[in-house]
Amino acid sequence: MTVTIAREGSIAVVTVDNPPVNALSQALRQALVEAVAELDADGAVKAVVLICAGRTFIAGADVGEFGKPPQPPHLPDVVARIEGASKPWVAAIHGSALGGGLEVALGCAYRVAVASASLGLPEVRLGIIPGAGGTVRLPRLIGPAAAVDLVTGGSPVGAKKAEGLELVDAVIDGDLRAGAIAFAGDVAAKPLPQPISARAVPAVEDSFWESAEKAVAAKAKREAAPLRALASIRNASRTDFAAGMAFERETFLELRGSAQAAALRHVFFAERAAPRPPELSGVTPRAIRSAAVIGGGTMGAGIAAALRDAGLPVVLVERDGAAVERGMANIRAIYDGAVKRGRLVQAVSDERMAGVAGGDDYGLLADTDLVIEAVFEDLAVKRAVFERLSGICRPDAVLATNTSYLDPAAISEGIGHPERFLGLHFFSPAHVMKLLEIVPTGTTAPDVLATGFALARLLGKIPVRAGICDGFIGNRILKVTRAQAERLLLSGAAPSTVDAAMRAFGLPMGPFEAQDLGGLDIAAFQRRAARERGETPFAPVADRLCAAGRLGQKTGGGWYDYMPGERTPTPSEAVAAIIAEEAAGRPQRAWDEAAIADAIVLPMVNEAARILEERVALRAADVDLVKIHGYGFPRWRGGPMHYAEARGLCEVVAVLDRLCADGLAEPPCAGLRRAVEAGGFSLLAG
Ligand code: 3HC
Ligand code: NAI
Repeated sequence: MTVTIAREGSIAVVTVDNPPVNALSQALRQALVEAVAELDADGAVKAVVLICAGRTFIAGADVGEFGKPPQPPHLPDVVARIEGASKPWVAAIHGSALGGGLEVALGCAYRVAVASASLGLPEVRLGIIPGAGGTVRLPRLIGPAAAVDLVTGGSPVGAKKAEGLELVDAVIDGDLRAGAIAFAGDVAAKPLPQPISARAVPAVEDSFWESAEKAVAAKAKREAAPLRALASIRNASRTDFAAGMAFERETFLELRGSAQAAALRHVFFAERAAPRPPELSGVTPRAIRSAAVIGGGTMGAGIAAALRDAGLPVVLVERDGAAVERGMANIRAIYDGAVKRGRLVQAVSDERMAGVAGGDDYGLLADTDLVIEAVFEDLAVKRAVFERLSGICRPDAVLATNTSYLDPAAISEGIGHPERFLGLHFFSPAHVMKLLEIVPTGTTAPDVLATGFALARLLGKIPVRAGICDGFIGNRILKVTRAQAERLLLSGAAPSTVDAAMRAFGLPMGPFEAQDLGGLDIAAFQRRAARERGETPFAPVADRLCAAGRLGQKTGGGWYDYMPGERTPTPSEAVAAIIAEEAAGRPQRAWDEAAIADAIVLPMVNEAARILEERVALRAADVDLVKIHGYGFPRWRGGPMHYAEARGLCEVVAVLDRLCADGLAEPPCAGLRRAVEAGGFSLLAG
């Protein structure tokens, strides 16, 4: 970490260089305080530019320090010191000014930024609120309404929008350093502006706070931080600056030590580690400049859109002319939807579509760098596709399958250059869902595997390496979720009770609602295949619903009944009768929400421990990312493995033992028992 001070005439330029993102470590905080003192004492300096080296302005407090006791100088004092400087400080922003970084900028007399910069207070995403004046200075600068949006939503805004909000004083074209020095030269001659802390918060109606509270609560669901952030802004609007700061700091410190913040920090670091697994360090991925998708159905169209969104030219190959038309229409529907929802302007949508070439001629793929297959889930059909690709594509082109349940090794059998083959398992809708399971076969070359991770980065996805087994990581655990949900039905819980309990746990949807939405047929198909392999999947009620043609919303009924054209689930008497028949002779009991969540989530953890033991997943945090980004597991719980560790693995095993004794779950696996002894999952990792 270095903070250097250069002089350009009467302007001092303070450059922060604390790679990778100039986070506000204790040493940096100390150095900033010292810089203020030095420059205050230097009579030749009339104004100061605060600028950062590297890819970004200060990206926030050092999240790595959050688990430890705060060390002085504390950030609020650093910001106060800058605000109290005897000459104007000008924050010169490129990259991101986030969290504590923006709070430092708010301590400066002025803020200038390049057009590509973004500014924000993402603290609520880490389960905390801004801790260095963000909720107190921001409403004084941009008004409570804009401050509430910025702080409780956590999303950054671009420099142009920030200028409109008067959060930024000028957007600099061209060289930031030179532009900021010129700006500082201009303001040096003027009197210092009133510090933000001395300004009043513009008044708003009382009704503003009530409606803001409703809106924030509805969005935050069970996350604590957004409402606490709102409370801090509201408090700052009716008290003086010092009282506002005291309230904010108290809330910040309390939340910093909370279980939700620990979980969200765990996810933060897991997400950042995911694209760069240590086992691939030093391996150079193959270049991907063009891509193709085979099959333009639900998944193929979504994958094509994801590739286009990342700027790659895409070829879509289908079976025949009519199927090409349908596939292209599927992609167009994605972009039309984006325009309708205001996410894309028409011109961009047109440009994305113009970059997709459709056809039924595999010859189009002769020079493509990456081909992703998304045809029917049928081994023979997939093999035939790869046989053709193998003869047509360049020998170094990467070939990938999007299969959900088939064995990628079997799919690639017999192809030329099998080292270039791997599984890339996207989730539906593929242009939206963040998870990408990357599945190497025994022959996949390291640089091809690394290409999968590089592709994920390019597409803005979270990559997780998964070994080959039925369902890889995510769908294998999903099978346990569903089996457990059915076990609950047979022991006294109704589908609506189970769904409500899982929503209360934090999932966006319960397991039965989710099956009705996606359709029960895919899992039925997959159970049939499992039975053919001699396995005995547990789904007595689902099997009967499928036999009765109750496949979910699309057939007007599944686990629930649906009025024609409606999506609201209504408890079904027919389903209740089937459950009663299947439950006959089994012990019945009363289930509360917590017991239901335990009976579903803890067996998932048990399966995940098995997955780790088998090295299907390499890290417990990878399982967390899979469940959060592919299956809606609440982020603020940190994923199932973090949840289990935070809860205490001893207790997890004890609950599983009890469920097992009642015939309601598998016994804890050896890996889970070993993890108890080791005090965590890390021994199963790596
Ligand atoms: N503290 C510590 N490390 C951080 C960090 C932070 N605030 N932000 C990023 N990092 C680390 C990452 O873990 C990663 O480390 P690694 O190379 O060892 O894996 C490295 O910096 C690079 O991060 P990214 O891969 O995310 O880099 P990108 O260039 O893709 O993105 C970024 C840069 C937009 C700045 C992104 O890192 C980001 O959004 N960071 C989080 C910013 C944030 O949440 N700030 C608020 C912190 S809370 C706070 O400030 C409280 C205050 O109010 C008191
Ligand atoms: P789909 O039935 O919607 O689309 C399949 C498409 O492949 C059809 O458009 C069909 O015309 C085309 N096709 C079939 N044979 C072809 C061939 N020989 N050459 C070119 N095109 C051909 O199926 P969906 O849902 O898109 O699934 C595709 C694959 O993705 C399957 O392997 C599935 O298991 C997997 N998958 C599906 C998910 C989902 O939620 N639907 C999620 C993740 C993976």
